[in-house]
Amino acid sequence: MQVQPKDPSLKTATKTDYLRQMTGPIGIFDSGYGGLTVFKEIQKNLPEYDFIYLGDNARVPYGIRSFQTVYEFTKECVFKLFELGCNLVILACNTASAKALRNIQSFDLPAGKRVLGVIRPTTESIDAYTKTKHVGILATEGTVASNSYQIEITKFFPHISVFQHACPLWVPLVENNEISGKAAHYIVEKDLRLLTAMSAKIDTIILACTHYPLLLSVIQKHLPDHITVLSQGEIVAEKLVDYLHRHPEIDAKCGKNGTTAFYTTDEVGAFENKTAIFYGKTIQAAYIDVRKKG
Ligand code: DGL
Repeated sequence: MQVQPKDPSLKTATKTDYLRQMTGPIGIFDSGYGGLTVFKEIQKNLPEYDFIYLGDNARVPYGIRSFQTVYEFTKECVFKLFELGCNLVILACNTASAKALRNIQSFDLPAGKRVLGVIRPTTESIDAYTKTKHVGILATEGTVASNSYQIEITKFFPHISVFQHACPLWVPLVENNEISGKAAHYIVEKDLRLLTAMSAKIDTIILACTHYPLLLSVIQKHLPDHITVLSQGEIVAEKLVDYLHRHPEIDAKCGKNGTTAFYTTDEVGAFENKTAIFYGKTIQAAYIDVRKKG
């Protein structure tokens, strides 16, 4: 025998509240602005989803910091995103993916929460791009030192040789919107020369830092046509769509009302101004304190 609730609206309200509790925005985290290049592509592919972007601008750059520091900072931001209702968080930052993701996944995840990075999705289809099987990685000092790209690529494709080069001046160039002037050309050309000198057979280069796609036209000017340059935004976005198809239980926990909120750990006005460079449109942001109290 079925028991009907006396007030039918009660049942509806309870179900709606339950769903509201269960679903949340997808959290997109980066040390600052760079993750917006990845977020832009994710949002293009998943326009109906809800998102919260959090940039830890007060503590950027992560690329020069120790493992422990990047882990602590990333963990604080990820937990803030959980607190804001996110059930799934994407580390749209290579340095955080390289230095913090594994620890967070192994030791810190509360039940029902997921954190994904950008390195695995970027590397898992690399074999399809390279004919010579010589791949170049351009990244921050931290990402290069972690060897994460080398490890991930070798795990799936042991026949691929990986050559890495750190470009510590590229993030400051982009942060200062120096993306096409003389300084950009000089610095980019020099770093590309150092990378390509490691192997004349490199035919594919991964831009393994969220800021680097902003320098793409300068990069392409200083490389021969036969070298393919991969920006990770589109790749990560496609892989996320695929991930959500393969994990309907996680997809069911993602809100789909098309909303977006932006948070920064630093000055809001500066964040809003610079966001246009990375995201392609102006936005409204809010300040957030991610540090643990007490
Ligand atoms: N977002 C970082 C990355 O992709 C670059 C900026 C930083 O060093 O914090 O590695």
